[in-house]
Amino acid sequence: MFGKLFLLFLGVSLVTATCDTTKFVACQDTFADKLGIDRVYNWLNPLGLTLQIQDIYINGGVAGARGLNVVCNAYNSFVQCLSDASTTTFECFDIGYLLTHSSAPNQAYSYGFLMSMLQYQCGAGFYLASDNWQCMQRIYNGKNATMYGCITDFVLNAQEDPKRGCDYVQTGMDCFSKASTLQGCPDELKYYGCESFRQYSIPQFARCEKQCTIDTQFRGI
Ligand SMILES: *[C@@H]1O[C@H](CO)[C@@H](O)[C@H](O)[C@H]1NC(C)=O
Repeated sequence: MFGKLFLLFLGVSLVTATCDTTKFVACQDTFADKLGIDRVYNWLNPLGLTLQIQDIYINGGVAGARGLNVVCNAYNSFVQCLSDASTTTFECFDIGYLLTHSSAPNQAYSYGFLMSMLQYQCGAGFYLASDNWQCMQRIYNGKNATMYGCITDFVLNAQEDPKRGCDYVQTGMDCFSKASTLQGCPDELKYYGCESFRQYSIPQFARCEKQCTIDTQFRGI
């Protein structure tokens, strides 16, 4: 009862999603297999999965495959697997569904966040990173701990004090865009970093209506 009220307070839709949990779990196993990581990195361990994906971005996949391609091929197969398994493709990433099927809100959110970021990085943002992958790979390598810190700070702060959520979104966007700078690398990568984080936050904070732009993204730094 309290849980449901709590969710309603957060403005989360409890309209039942039609994700089939059994198939969702099976698709997650295939996702992990395609990423070449242990199946324990699933919706029960979303921050661990986040680090595994960062690790693939840094080190590439088996036989030297480009990290971005490994992750996005796996992600696209995952989405395909889900669309075969549920009424609509993204029902299983729906925060309302995740909250009612996870053991903790943190877990639900950080899984939904990650999938939202991947949707951007493997969709609209793909070519921006792909065209500059040497740079982006070096950025992930050099800023791995920083970027993971941007994410864990955001997840903790947003759950502890959701009323200030939009401030935390801005902090995270600034954190990611600042991390996405490297001498000799194009400025667009700052936008890519900012937008990756903005997309990360959207499942909980679409209402903040933040924007990433090349000129204003360092507001507050
Ligand atoms: C990235 O940073 C995290 C957190 O500090 C660390 O646990 C992980 O081993 C790092 N990964 C790589 C590839 O350096």
